[in-house]
Amino acid sequence: MSLQEALVLVVASAILTHLYLRNFEPEPKKAHLVLLGIIVVPCLDSVLLKKHVDSILIRLALASSVYWSALSLSIVLYRISPWHPLAKFPGPRFLYTSKLLGAVLAKRGDGHLRIKKLHDEFGPIVRIGPNEISVVDVSALSPILGADGMPKGPMWDGRRPPNGICNIEMLRDPVEHLRRRKVWNRAFTTNAVKDYEEVVVKRSLQLLDALVSQSANGGSIDLTKWYSYFTFDIMGDMLFGGGFEFIRDGDRHGIMDLMTHTVVALSMIQHLPWFVGIYEKLPITPAGLSKFREFAMKCVKDRRARGAVTKDVFHYIMNEDGVDKVPLTLPEVLSDAGIAVVAGSDTTSSTMTVLFYYLLSNPSAYKRLREEINSAFPIHDGHPFDASKLSSLPYLNAVINEALRLQPPVPVYLQRAPQAGSGGRWVASQFIPEGTAVDVAPYALHRDPRYFSPHPDEFIPERWLKPTEDTETKFTTNMLAFIPFSMGPSNCVGKNLAMLEMRMVTALLVQQLDMKFGDGFNGEKWEENIEEYFVIKPPPLPIQISRTVSN
Ligand code: HEM
Repeated sequence: MSLQEALVLVVASAILTHLYLRNFEPEPKKAHLVLLGIIVVPCLDSVLLKKHVDSILIRLALASSVYWSALSLSIVLYRISPWHPLAKFPGPRFLYTSKLLGAVLAKRGDGHLRIKKLHDEFGPIVRIGPNEISVVDVSALSPILGADGMPKGPMWDGRRPPNGICNIEMLRDPVEHLRRRKVWNRAFTTNAVKDYEEVVVKRSLQLLDALVSQSANGGSIDLTKWYSYFTFDIMGDMLFGGGFEFIRDGDRHGIMDLMTHTVVALSMIQHLPWFVGIYEKLPITPAGLSKFREFAMKCVKDRRARGAVTKDVFHYIMNEDGVDKVPLTLPEVLSDAGIAVVAGSDTTSSTMTVLFYYLLSNPSAYKRLREEINSAFPIHDGHPFDASKLSSLPYLNAVINEALRLQPPVPVYLQRAPQAGSGGRWVASQFIPEGTAVDVAPYALHRDPRYFSPHPDEFIPERWLKPTEDTETKFTTNMLAFIPFSMGPSNCVGKNLAMLEMRMVTALLVQQLDMKFGDGFNGEKWEENIEEYFVIKPPPLPIQISRTVSN
């Protein structure tokens, strides 16, 4: 056999590998076998070169480089070809080639802006990866996210902790998800959340005192940081019976930094779910993850030892009331409690931060909100903590909705995928083949002029109010397109608690404090600098505060 013929056979083995992988796409659990395969096959191929190349090392290097180049080329050509099942969807071709690009781009933290731009250019369905589309169309929401929609998509395999048990957010099997979700639903009924009001009141007052004492010298304070402390403390109270005490002591365990690094890393790895499959075969656990697990384990042990003082979320997920016939196991509780701390703190704190950014940038909205709060809760009659009254204040709810609309905390990746074995699903008159990851991007949806107009990019709380005879502007506000908490069986379980926190703290601070941006603050750039790492991460927000004159 000539050298040329031998090399053609190496190329042929690469194409056969691709054909095999195309039909049997590797699951994360089998990714290490695939990796082994694409190392072993060129080693075997190198035997074909024995007659022509004496050195075994050069033979291996030649066979491997030809094999891997041919394999990569075959994959890329197929993905951009008209024969690919997603070829009918428009999008930027370079993104079709590899999810490695998705991972690299994720590091920039501008995914929400990038995906919106793609929808502006290519329309409501855009192909954003080899096997991934993004959909921004109200008629598609129910078939994707709704009760009759699709299960969670492959990115959740990438967000799974290596060698760890899946938490509720990552469970892709709908039956298993429902089993876990039933327990969580009990922890967030209207009655259960009523019991949490006391904690939110206590923490809101503690936050108010901390903000006032930190501002005693007239300097600026970073509202982004203080809201994070506030929501972390509440999640600690809810899930671990207290003990975080960020407002009191600051971040003494370095947990905030750890979270920031972890969310950035996960936002990259979620694009390469197979990576977790390989990584977890290695005998290492990231130091950050071990530290967080240790911290969470200690909190759970302390909480179990103390027993329930009040009915907190932990009370339900630990089945302390004995209602669940098949209670969660301790590792499941630990895993779910850990994710709930993250899911419930960053999301709520970033919404409250952007809300105050928009209020301080729009003094007339601030004034109108304060008038509404002071009229419902006259300042000398006590603090604005009546939850049911707060929930009925139209302008307060309008400003919260408008902040959630403009900056939904999960702005890009509500990801689902057609059920395995189903062949695919029809969505918005398009057939989506099995094996496709389908993303819904709330950020782009919430700024789509078909659903929110006029001025979809501007903060206008009035668009949420019932029109009256003297309403000058006629707004289009499509409630069906408003999904900051997602929708369907995997929607946000903590919505009621989040709304309670946001209403109470916003009302309290607006009533009790005069606020303005810190000296030298550049408001124009602030919004642009909000980053996306699956959840949004607002930059520091320096503000100056003083007690209201009437206090
Ligand atoms: C403004 C605040 C919040 C927003 C905007 C928000 C948003 C979301 C979204 C969009 C999802 C669904 C992701 C998907 O469909 O794939 C979700 C899930 C979840 N959220 Fe929230 N969240 C907030 C606060 C909270 C709070 C306070 C908790 C309290 C524990 C919480 C716990 C969870 C959990 C456990 C899930 C997973 C639910 C499941 O998979 O069944 N969230 N959240």
